[in-house]
This record gives sequence, structure tokens and C-alpha cells, in this order.
Amino acid sequence: MAYTVPKLTDYSAESLLKTFGHAKLALRDELHEVTSESEWKAVRDRWMARKNGVLTQINDQLRTAPKDAKRDFGQYLNELKQYVSQEIEGWNRFVENAPGGLAGSLGSVDISLPGIRRPIGAEHPILKTSREMCAVFQRLGYSIAEGPVIETDYYNFEALNFPPNHPARDTQDTLFIAGQSSKPQRERLLLRTHTSPVQIRTMEKIRPPIRIVIPGTVHRNDPPDASHSPMFHQIEGLAVDTNITFGDLKGTLDHAMKEFFGSSVKTSFRPSFFPFTEPSAEMFVSCFICGGSGRRESGPCRPCKQTGWIEILGCGMVDPNVFEFVKDNGYDPRKVSGFAFGMGADRIALLKYGVDDLQLFFNGDVRFLQQWA
Ligand code: DAH
Repeated sequence: MAYTVPKLTDYSAESLLKTFGHAKLALRDELHEVTSESEWKAVRDRWMARKNGVLTQINDQLRTAPKDAKRDFGQYLNELKQYVSQEIEGWNRFVENAPGGLAGSLGSVDISLPGIRRPIGAEHPILKTSREMCAVFQRLGYSIAEGPVIETDYYNFEALNFPPNHPARDTQDTLFIAGQSSKPQRERLLLRTHTSPVQIRTMEKIRPPIRIVIPGTVHRNDPPDASHSPMFHQIEGLAVDTNITFGDLKGTLDHAMKEFFGSSVKTSFRPSFFPFTEPSAEMFVSCFICGGSGRRESGPCRPCKQTGWIEILGCGMVDPNVFEFVKDNGYDPRKVSGFAFGMGADRIALLKYGVDDLQLFFNGDVRFLQQWA
């Protein structure tokens, strides 16, 4: 089906992204259906004809667009123009070269033409942050462990010492997979709300001593806003051996933060609570933006809310009740001890790259993301 240009009424970045995305998909659909040179020419003319071609029609809407949308619109349009000519010309050459293709009907191959340059992608800033943080621990001898995003209640809650009626299970916080209510609670499937279940899964497979970091996506029932997203990223850590102490926890994390944020940052531990650690703490690093003063030349320091400290992670000594669930694989709580920690990669990336809206990381606008490419 031939594409018709929609009449734009909404010029928000989101709507532009969608409209121009649709146009690209439509062009590809049309090209896929082409089986002869004349069909290819028809698609080319429909999209690229000066007079009333798709690009011209969109261009006409640029003139009537509201003033403050013109710049974005123009950028999208330019990019679309490039895409359209590249796809159409590229498709032409593709069929010429294809064995048994339309070479005959499209004439001879001009080997002096430049190839099609495909843009090279780059690592997303959140994954880059996550990888760099994991690398700090890998240099200390930690290995990477991973686990499933769709988890059972058992690994996400029960084996982490959450009592049966803990409010974290509430559907207000946890996204459950539908149609599970006939199963016993521990077998019910959900989207993991943290990376901590991979602690249990790994301890089931690998006997102590163990030192692992666990990067991954997690989900919670939070509506998206500048600092929340129903999907986000965590990095979990676990070290179990004989005689691991809270001193090891503090030393390891202090070293890791100095490696990651720079040797001048300090760490501070404040008492907290998690069902799977005892004692538990929250760890803060001195604000690497204002240097811990709470003030910047431009005024009060916003990222640390003028406190000079930024909360980075939750941590603690693994609760003996957690070891009970993996006792049979060598984790006798009378013989081993360990520490664990968990942090949000997205928040660290926001701070590190000075971005003030989490949604920018997930909207998929290449113009934003390529700043760090
Ligand atoms: N799982 C916790 C959360 O998502 C973070 C966390 C806290 C992980 C303490 C740990 C820990 O391993 O020891 O909020």
C-alpha cells in the first residue's frame, strides 16, 4: 500500500519522532514489494518527485509548522531525505548485484559508485556506565553473573528473606505475569524488581568462596517521570568466604567508588534495612560535582541537594537466613559470611553525564544519545 503523508497537528518531539519513523517503515515496506525496474521507478518518483512527492509534501508542512517546532522538524526532514535517497538508490544497486536479480533490467553495474555507508552504532550511556562499574570489580577479581528478568516469587522475594506479606510484593510495586494465581505463591512469575535474586541463583550453582557482580534490567510498577522508569538497570555485588567482615565491605566499596568517581571522593555509611542483609547500610559518596561543599559557583548544588553527599547504593552483611536457602551447596551460615550491595546504574549515569531527565535515555532519539558516542 502506498504511503500517504499525514496532516501534522502535534509537533512535539515525540510525535515528530513517530511520524518520521512511520515514513521510514512505510518506504521500506514499499521497497520490499518491488519486483521490477518500473516498480522501483514508481516508488522513487512517488517519494522523491519534486512535484508532489512524499518528501515535497512533508516539506510543504514545514512551512506551516509553528515557529518553535521548525528547527526540530527541519532536522528530522533532512535526515529523512538522506534516508530516502540512500534506501532507494541502495535498493537499486542491491538488486543489480543480486544473483538472479534484476541486473538485466536495471542496466550495468557502476563499480566506481561509492558503497552504502551504514552508520556505526555506539554504546548506550547507561550500559557504558554499568560496564565500567563492573570492570572496577572485575579488576578486584570479581566475575560477572547474570540471571533471568522473568523471575519466580521464590528467588525475587522468599529466598531473600522477605516475609510472606511484605509490601514489596504489592502489585503497586511489582509487575506480575498474568494468569499465575492458581500456582503456589513461590512459583508465581513476575518481572524481577531487583538483581538480588541472582545472588541465590549463583550460590545454588557455585560453591563458596564467591565474588560476583550482577548487571541487569529490573522492573517496577512506577510511572515514567524525570527520575523513574518502569524499567531500569541495577548492578549487584556479592562476596562470600570465610571471615568476611563489615570492614571488607567498607574497604571494597570505598576503593570501588574512588576508582569510579575519582580518588578524592569519600564514602559514608548510614544504617538502613533490607530483609536480606543484617546489618544493612546505605552508602553515600561525597558529591563529585561540588566536591562535597554543597555549593557551586552558580549557586546551590542541585545533584546533592546541598548536602555534599549523594546516595549511591544499599549494602550489608548477608543475612544468615539467606544462606539457609543455599546451605546444601556449602553456604553454612556458621562457616561462611559475606557482604552484598546493589546500586542503580541509571541514576549514576544521570549524575555522571549531567542529564536531568531519565526519559531522555529511553526515548531513542539519536541526536541525544550520539553526544556520548
Ligand atoms: N535490592 C535492593 C534494591 O533494589 C538493593 C540492595 C540493597 C542490594 C542491599 C543488596 C543489598 O545486595 O545488600 O533496593
